[in-house]
Amino acid sequence: MRAFDLSTVMTRQLVTLFLTLLAFGTLPLVRCGAIGAGGTCSPNNTHVDPSTHKLITECDDKTFCTSDNAANGTIGTCQPRGCRRDEFPFGYGMTDALPPLCDRGTFCPDDGHGCEAIHDVGAACELARDEQCAPPKDEIAVVLASNQNSNGAICLNSVCMWANATLGQGCVIDDTTYVDTSSGTQLGNRIIRHNCRTPLLYCDPMALQCFPARLLGEACEMDMECRSHNCAASVCADPPGTVRTLQPWHYVVTILVVAISMGATATMLVMIHQRLRLRRHRELREYYYEQLSLRQSMFALHRRAASKMTGEKSYYD
Ligand SMILES: *[C@@H]1O[C@H](CO)[C@@H](O)[C@H](O)[C@H]1NC(C)=O
Repeated sequence: MRAFDLSTVMTRQLVTLFLTLLAFGTLPLVRCGAIGAGGTCSPNNTHVDPSTHKLITECDDKTFCTSDNAANGTIGTCQPRGCRRDEFPFGYGMTDALPPLCDRGTFCPDDGHGCEAIHDVGAACELARDEQCAPPKDEIAVVLASNQNSNGAICLNSVCMWANATLGQGCVIDDTTYVDTSSGTQLGNRIIRHNCRTPLLYCDPMALQCFPARLLGEACEMDMECRSHNCAASVCADPPGTVRTLQPWHYVVTILVVAISMGATATMLVMIHQRLRLRRHRELREYYYEQLSLRQSMFALHRRAASKMTGEKSYYD
């Protein structure tokens, strides 16, 4: 009972500590509004955080701030979101009704006000939301598509385009640095995106021209310079999460080591068993000899007693 009480108290303290840490850790990061559905908000305060590039509104995570108001965009209301991007969107509870996902050919914008038809080349799009842009025809999309665009379409500097620039052609660069201040120190993550054909080409930020991307093991400065899109310690490396393939000699060595250790174990067990058997055999032999000598001395005693009896008998006769 005592142990139970103690553990309950400790669990409660741990939970409190965890919640406190969570609150302190996320407060400066989220900085999202807390106004719920139906509340009044100011669309003028809707902006993109300059360091994290997250869309900030005065409304909470389940609503967006309407801006189509007569009062010159200064008064809006927080309305429930009309769509979601993720299967499990942030801010919704287990039992909350979720807004719908968007169908093919439409997308859910960052503020979630409702699904919109995808935009053509040259139209506006939101940061790093390539799927808001209409891809080229299928036969071209197959050539242009890579994991750095959406079916060949890409959103650079808030404009939709296709990632179709070829070797030596001029290219467009979107240079965004995401700063994370949640850990106290500022951690920057610079992401450069471009409209050269990936993964074979990259856009040099100085020349603004497409150059061939480098192969594994070649020197690099930025991820985009590598075909693998991973520049680790100034050398193009396999992307994180690459499946490692084992060489045949890895298998041979592994099998040999397993076989040798199994053989050694078996040999040792056999030797120990033989020693134990030998010891037992010796014990049994000693026991046998002891019994034999005991028997012989008993016989001798008997014989002596019998001869003595015979001697006495002849004396009385
Ligand atoms: C390349 O993409 C742009 C749109 O970003 C398009 O206008 C242009 O026609 C394309 N060029 C080729 C050769 O497909």
